Amino acid sequence: MAHQKPPTSPSSSSSSAHDRLSSLSAHIMGSSNPSVFTASTVAAAPEDPLFGLMKAYREDPSDKKVDLGIGAYRDNNAKPWVLPVVKKADDAIHNDPNLNHEYLSIGGLPDLTAAAQKLIVGADSPAIKEKRICTLQTISGTGAVHLGGLFLSKFHPQKPTIYLSNPTWANHNQIFSNVGLKIAQYPYFSAKTKGLDFDGMLSALRAAPNGSIILLHACAHNPTGVDPTEDQWRQIATLMRERAHFPFFDTAYQGFASDAWAIRYFIEQGFELCVAQSFAKNFGLYGERTGAFHFVSAGGADASAANANVASQLAILQRSEISNPPAYGARIAAKVLNDPQLFKEWEDDLRTMSGRILEMRSGLRERLEKRGTPGSWEHITSQIGMFSFTGLTETQVKALRDKWHVYMTKNGRISMAGLNTNNIDYFAEAVDSVVRETS
Ligand SMILES: Cc1ncc(COP(=O)(O)O)c(C=O)c1O
Repeated sequence: MAHQKPPTSPSSSSSSAHDRLSSLSAHIMGSSNPSVFTASTVAAAPEDPLFGLMKAYREDPSDKKVDLGIGAYRDNNAKPWVLPVVKKADDAIHNDPNLNHEYLSIGGLPDLTAAAQKLIVGADSPAIKEKRICTLQTISGTGAVHLGGLFLSKFHPQKPTIYLSNPTWANHNQIFSNVGLKIAQYPYFSAKTKGLDFDGMLSALRAAPNGSIILLHACAHNPTGVDPTEDQWRQIATLMRERAHFPFFDTAYQGFASDAWAIRYFIEQGFELCVAQSFAKNFGLYGERTGAFHFVSAGGADASAANANVASQLAILQRSEISNPPAYGARIAAKVLNDPQLFKEWEDDLRTMSGRILEMRSGLRERLEKRGTPGSWEHITSQIGMFSFTGLTETQVKALRDKWHVYMTKNGRISMAGLNTNNIDYFAEAVDSVVRETS
């Protein structure tokens, strides 16, 4: 039998030994190139507060611990939930003999982008009929917010400031400042009523320079769980039209609350706008990074041509950033959205999630009221979506964590999906105790 050659030839192994020797001697002699990125050039970044919270929760050995920080749905056993319809679609895709792992196109999976469009603007939207909406699949909602921010920063002729609600999803600030947009805030949450500070919001939008970009949460506002009513949306639209503001909708919780009504209303009113859409929460496809970015041009003779130009520039931006989006989650969402039977099952799964959250809302309010916990708890049931802005102070949040092993963001936001029939009594007792101690 012929001898096989060793995998490394003697000459290459002696040259790599030589490389190692010379880097070792350079190290010992202190003659390596000086570092550009020393610890003083690059300061340590603060830990992401939410991911820091998750880590602290994981490391807490208490068997009583409760995680109310997580922005993901949990079932009644505090476990991640694979939607049954997603499991079904996943199995079908997995067993498809024609499945391959080729790249998607720059804009993503057409079956997903077309369905995502319909889900947001409605199948019979004039924007679709008049070919003045373009959609690119993105790295979930975060990627969609980023792609939109990048486009506006590069192509908006006036480089306007973007106004964010106070408070907002914390990542908005980082994403928009990273792409070079100036950021301002508009009041949103009233600490007094624990509802919308509608007057504050309107007067800030009135005072903003004409043509500002206004970031609006389409539904189930994160972190407050407070949305404008339809009548308030109408007033916001009227004011924004007067001031020629540009709406940037972020929709990460479609299906948990009043859906896409506001977006459709703004399109009806003739706005040019964009939408960042996430399928993380409503499909439970968090880690698959499935989302879409839509740009809707205002109606008019030039609209379709203008929209095609926008689409072409978005494709260039996307190409340079991610080349093309990930396929697996997109295939799952597309399969469900395009199949009427699976779509119905998806709606059932959404009802399962939102129904359990509603039960936790009324259960928590009932328990706090029964205990006579100081304060009013009506907002727990009037707020909607995945989160509740409890109104608990930073000191109370800290006491809940230190004494009761209950984890939530320091602004008092709780993820309602973190509550279940096993921990809701304990949590109500904990809240009651810290509120009494500190009030
Ligand atoms: C308001 C808002 N926008 C966007 C996102 C983006 O989420 P993802 O990138 O996971 O889709 C989130 C997630 O928490 C959010 O709350």
